[in-house]
Amino acid sequence: MAKPKLLSTHKLFEAPRKLLDEHFDVDYWERPERPPRAEVLARVADKEALICLLTEKINDELLDAAPKLRIVCNVAVGFDNIDVAACTRRKIVATNTPGVLDETTADFAWTLLMAVARRLVEGDQLTRSGAWAGWNLDQLCGADVWGKTLGLVGFGRIGRAVARRAAGFGMRILYNDAIPVAPEVAQQLNAEFVERDKLFAEADFVSVHVPLLPETRHLISAAQFAKMKKTAYLINTSRGPVVDEAALVAALQTGEIAGAALDVYENEPKVHAGLVGRKDVVLAPHIASASVETRTKMAMMAVENCVARFEGKKPPNALNPEVL
Ligand code: DGY
Repeated sequence: MAKPKLLSTHKLFEAPRKLLDEHFDVDYWERPERPPRAEVLARVADKEALICLLTEKINDELLDAAPKLRIVCNVAVGFDNIDVAACTRRKIVATNTPGVLDETTADFAWTLLMAVARRLVEGDQLTRSGAWAGWNLDQLCGADVWGKTLGLVGFGRIGRAVARRAAGFGMRILYNDAIPVAPEVAQQLNAEFVERDKLFAEADFVSVHVPLLPETRHLISAAQFAKMKKTAYLINTSRGPVVDEAALVAALQTGEIAGAALDVYENEPKVHAGLVGRKDVVLAPHIASASVETRTKMAMMAVENCVARFEGKKPPNALNPEVL
């Protein structure tokens, strides 16, 4: 029997690719750059399954171009690139990759936090430049991390993984989320639920861990920066539009906050021009989950969801299981 046709907008890694090839007739986008939209629309036309990255917009335009599609598997936990309701209307299952990237992403939130607080990127640049004249008492002094207050905006799996790592730094941990966690979980993590305003006012490091939803777009804007300490830092590994970048640039320019470390941007891959030249920001290219182990697991999870759909099983990470 002919295998179902699938488009993968990435070549994936060895193990998930092997599994995918066993079950599907796969059309891979093999090139290193992301595929042009027109190419995706043309190639998806005769496909029953799609494995995509967060850079692909899965909306009415794409779904209309793919009348045979039965499943869309995002290789990412965030799925703000997918119009799930539009998929549901067409009885197309949409899936994501929750859980497997929490610890790796938390590691990276800490990487950013430490890098901006201790001016690592500036130090690296100085050391490489040949301009370093040797040890000096006031050279590249940053801010202490140990013993400070960490404010977590969003306390889901990733926020809690970030909190766990703070224990070694003897930090006070504040968090805010739509629903507070069970008291025993908060106690175990030594974390205190506070209203958002208090979190912004008291945290030395504000780290963002909410999904992008209409209600979280520009959740951190001028009003929040105005509440923050002048010595505080913002860390964002969630989604760029959660932070109002223009307001962030203004807050840095006026010294309302001390710095920021970002992995995500409002209009990726564009970065606000006001951020690029600043020494008080650390800028990473959306790589918080980018360990070989984790990215391989994410791809494998997407493939397993796809396989399940065609074996008549419920894909384990279906975002709209009601279509099944
Ligand atoms: C996600 O999975 O949503 C990240 O942004 C990429 O790992």
